[in-house]
Amino acid sequence: MAKKFKVFVTRKIPKIGIETLRQKAIIKVSPHDRILKQRELIKMIKGKNFDALLTLLTDHINDQVLDAAGSNLKIVANYAVGFDNIDLKAASKRKIYVTNTPGVLTEAVAEHAFALLLAASRKITESDKYVRGGKYKGWEPMLFLGKQLHEKTLGVVGLGRIGSYVAQIARGFNMKVIYFDIARNKQFERKFQAYFASMPHLLKEADFISIHVPLVPQTHHLIKAKHFKMMKNTAILINTSRGPVIDEKALVYALRRKEIAAAGLDVFEHEPHLTPGLKGLKNVILTPHTASATIEARNEMAKITASNILAVLEGKKSPNLVNKF
Ligand code: GLV
Ligand code: GLV
Repeated sequence: MAKKFKVFVTRKIPKIGIETLRQKAIIKVSPHDRILKQRELIKMIKGKNFDALLTLLTDHINDQVLDAAGSNLKIVANYAVGFDNIDLKAASKRKIYVTNTPGVLTEAVAEHAFALLLAASRKITESDKYVRGGKYKGWEPMLFLGKQLHEKTLGVVGLGRIGSYVAQIARGFNMKVIYFDIARNKQFERKFQAYFASMPHLLKEADFISIHVPLVPQTHHLIKAKHFKMMKNTAILINTSRGPVIDEKALVYALRRKEIAAAGLDVFEHEPHLTPGLKGLKNVILTPHTASATIEARNEMAKITASNILAVLEGKKSPNLVNKF
């Protein structure tokens, strides 16, 4: 069978995804293994009549890009569960499907949230620096005292797949789970002895707060200055969702003033830039948006993205559509 579809991939992804696509389509991968500037992306796709774009969360897909792609384009398949980088309205009005990769990175992201939570509560990165720096002179009764998780309250903000799995892990540490979401989930509450809380209640009660909402206009700066004042000054805040959900300037201020004890961040408001002051703080742990960066999750993301593309190109419905028209 002749390969009749043409797919543009904006950056190298695990080869299982490319190989899957190659069986049915002609694949063009960006020659640069780096984030493309929008004008570079436009130049690479303009006049080439691609049927599909495989995009990353670092690509901003809007009217200009979709116009450049032209009328053959049928699908933008995002290699991510989040899709705030894609203008869904712009896609829908052109009858272009948009898909994401739910389900396959749930455990990876939740485990990373816990890695940050444990690292922040036990000051792991500071301790590591201390030992490497030759400062360790022997056991001390008061060295790097942290907080244990046992019987503490975890506040989960956003009870999707990832938030639910974070709650499940927390129960294994004997934590009490409270959560806030736009919808209550009574089945979840029964299963994990979890309690629904309003945002103010959650912020006041939680010893640890972990954010798992998508970035939409309603969640932009969901956590801002006034919220840090509501949190316990022993609270530890974890964000593995999207940076702009937290007002990062207000977070720097709160961490500096010890309004909260610490934070663990995998995402930033202006990635890859950090708000001035953030990296100078000792009570924050920073990772470079790697929460889904496990071999398992990234391979599955590559497979699911490829199958989303092939489904649409073969005229079937992808189960991971995120837009309607
Ligand atoms: C990562 O941030 C993702 O949305 O998959
Ligand atoms: C992500 O897929 C979530 O639902 O949390």
